[in-house]
Amino acid sequence: MKATARAFANIALAKYWGKADSDLNLPAMPSLSLTVTELFTTTTVAFDDGLSSDDVVVSDAAQSGRTRERVVKLLDRVRNEAGVDLFARVASQNTFPVASGLASSASGFAALAVAARVAAGLPHDAVLASRLARTASVSAARSVYGGFVTLDRGAPGDADLAATPVFDADYWDLRVVVALVGDAQKETSSTDGMERTRMTSPFYDAWALTAPRFYGEVLAGVRARDLERVGTAMEASTFAMHACAMASAPPVVYWKPPTLAIYDAVRALRARGTCAWATSDAGPHVKVFCEARDEGSVTQSLRAVDGVTRVLVAKPGGPATLEAT
Ligand code: PMV
Repeated sequence: MKATARAFANIALAKYWGKADSDLNLPAMPSLSLTVTELFTTTTVAFDDGLSSDDVVVSDAAQSGRTRERVVKLLDRVRNEAGVDLFARVASQNTFPVASGLASSASGFAALAVAARVAAGLPHDAVLASRLARTASVSAARSVYGGFVTLDRGAPGDADLAATPVFDADYWDLRVVVALVGDAQKETSSTDGMERTRMTSPFYDAWALTAPRFYGEVLAGVRARDLERVGTAMEASTFAMHACAMASAPPVVYWKPPTLAIYDAVRALRARGTCAWATSDAGPHVKVFCEARDEGSVTQSLRAVDGVTRVLVAKPGGPATLEAT
């Protein structure tokens, strides 16, 4: 009754930001992501009759409060489906700072969903794991798969919504250069940030109306392997999402001064002829998409930006996998 799974984080090229249904955890708009190497979570789940409650440890720290609650809720679903009535020990390790907009909830809940199902004696099934991961974190549904992955907007009452893999990791040899801006945890979780945006931002309706257009453009660009088309739509999606969030009351601002300096550096790279495009999520870090041949020049430019604490280079990554325990 023990299993270990590893899942990579994913970066949304067309973002979702806002829920159609908070109880079912359904996104209000479609999204498209690339699963990437380097940023991953490894999680072991062991159901154990010696435990009197679920024991949740992330990066060697025992969890209480909201993180633990989300894990326990997911375990409850698995126990229910598998007919298991034991508590579990969950231990999770990440290769990168958590809760800072680097998609740790995506890789974390994808790894947890895959490991928990198998530990409970259920067969591994990517669709069911993606659906289960989505109930805890919408973006986690996408990290069950490798490469380019889409997730539809949630139709009312659609408890079965899962992500769909579109192209495998080897479809396009892109690089994602990740510029880290410190490793502080964010003050506003994505769940709270997007709910405040939906409730208070005067731009939310416009964002919700426009987001599917960015999604369509990104998807068309990916199909054509046209980085300029993908990048243009990805940056538009990013700025629209953040502008909408910043207009909330009180404002939801994830960017720090170095974040904007990185966007400037990326624009300067483009002015010099390098096809590089940036995006960021619920945190200050920036992920820059470029062709493999430009990895060196992009890395060098981002390292030179004041306030950038670390730069790492990721490639398209594969699906969540079970590891030998
Ligand atoms: O579902 P969450 O809480 O992981 O929210 C993710 C939100 C963004 O990363 C900003 C966008 C996205 O589509 O991944």
